[in-house]
Amino acid sequence: MTFNPLKEKGMAFEKQLRNWHQIVAKPYKKQKVDCYTRTRQILMNGIEVEGWGFKHQFNRFVSSIDSKDKANISRLGRIENQQQMTCNWMCPEDQSVLETTLAYEQVAVDLTAWLAQNEPDSYVKETFDFGLLEDFDHLYRYSQYAYMREGIEPEDIVQGQTDIITGRPTQHHHNCNGLRLRKHYDKSTASPQTKVNILTVLSGEQQTHNFYAEHGFMYGDHVLRETYAEIKDVEEEHVTMYESLTDPSETLFEKLLLHEFTEVCNYYTCVEDETDEKIKKYWEIFLDMEIEHLHIAAEIFKKYEKRDPEEVIGSNIVIPCRFKSQKAYVQKILEKEIDKRLAPNGKYYNTIDEIPKDWASYPVQERVSEISAPSENCINIVEFYHDRDIIKANENLENKEVSLLKKGLQKTAVAKNTVFPEKLQNMIEKHEERKKIKEKII
Ligand SMILES: [Fe+2]
Ligand SMILES: [Fe+2]
Ligand SMILES: [Fe+2]
Ligand SMILES: [Fe+2]
Repeated sequence: MTFNPLKEKGMAFEKQLRNWHQIVAKPYKKQKVDCYTRTRQILMNGIEVEGWGFKHQFNRFVSSIDSKDKANISRLGRIENQQQMTCNWMCPEDQSVLETTLAYEQVAVDLTAWLAQNEPDSYVKETFDFGLLEDFDHLYRYSQYAYMREGIEPEDIVQGQTDIITGRPTQHHHNCNGLRLRKHYDKSTASPQTKVNILTVLSGEQQTHNFYAEHGFMYGDHVLRETYAEIKDVEEEHVTMYESLTDPSETLFEKLLLHEFTEVCNYYTCVEDETDEKIKKYWEIFLDMEIEHLHIAAEIFKKYEKRDPEEVIGSNIVIPCRFKSQKAYVQKILEKEIDKRLAPNGKYYNTIDEIPKDWASYPVQERVSEISAPSENCINIVEFYHDRDIIKANENLENKEVSLLKKGLQKTAVAKNTVFPEKLQNMIEKHEERKKIKEKII
């Protein structure tokens, strides 16, 4: 269907400032919320944080703009700030940091899988698939702590929509920054879908990084704190990777337009998909607000760039965040690409066997894991609690865990505390032996 937000009527800008009661929404109930309502809430918080931060950067760096327009950009930033509070504070106080963490990684897995399948640029798609397998492994690592520390069945958070099993091992996500930098799209030929897809996942990854930065220290368990530190650092790499896909020669006026368009597209998708009637009301209001933001950005773009906004964003909405179960797709990529690594020149990917001996990521991995990799320790520790790691997938995938690990592990720069496939196999066998004894009540 056609929906050209440049031609739709939005909410008048003077009406967008809300009072505190309107800003602070009633939180959802963690036991009742649909997992994809929660992923939308988390993603839209990330989109708003980016929208807010961008306006500050814009006003700090752009001097060739008159004071009336500068004031309008500043007003826009304030509205983004209010929307961000509404989105983020839908989260209830009794949802623990680890529970929210599992939901953040579910966002990353199911969002990136959707984007990969709806990405017209094959190189960008490949990059999405690459990032996907890393966040998939984060979900598995955090699930161990959720079980050990808080007795949480990770299933209660992901509600059977996302599998939990080893991905590309987190200890191998640490790369030389130069390798994380990918080839950027060409602003004059890239489709609006590509531009919106990248800005959407980038906003999500940045917010995940920020969430770990602000919450990883809230546990006393030192190994868990170290795991947050390790995974936060990977999210920093994800921000580096996804932002490098965007064309740096886009002007800040062009980027302003793209930010507002991305907000419109995401809220549009949220309105279409939301099953919680109360929360849907917020998505509808925010979509109306964003349409007006887009009109303001389009006017500023026309005034200073003397170009038609449709050259940048096209004349139709795109769908960037359709949350639904992606298990089959993720399993396919997992089996095919768990051994993929970043190759030099920002253009290619290699398998473990193909990377050169002097691969620039090896010294980084050797340095950060020189004592141990916290993401491996969590599997070592969970053995005491559960005999083996906590996983949840279909039987076919569960049976492939050991062989997946074998394929995903490197031979070089491997942490000393690594759980190797042989050990994992022993853990699985021990778990099977003891299961029957444990299940007996007396
Ligand atoms: Fe916004
Ligand atoms: Fe992640
Ligand atoms: Fe990530
Ligand atoms: Fe906006």
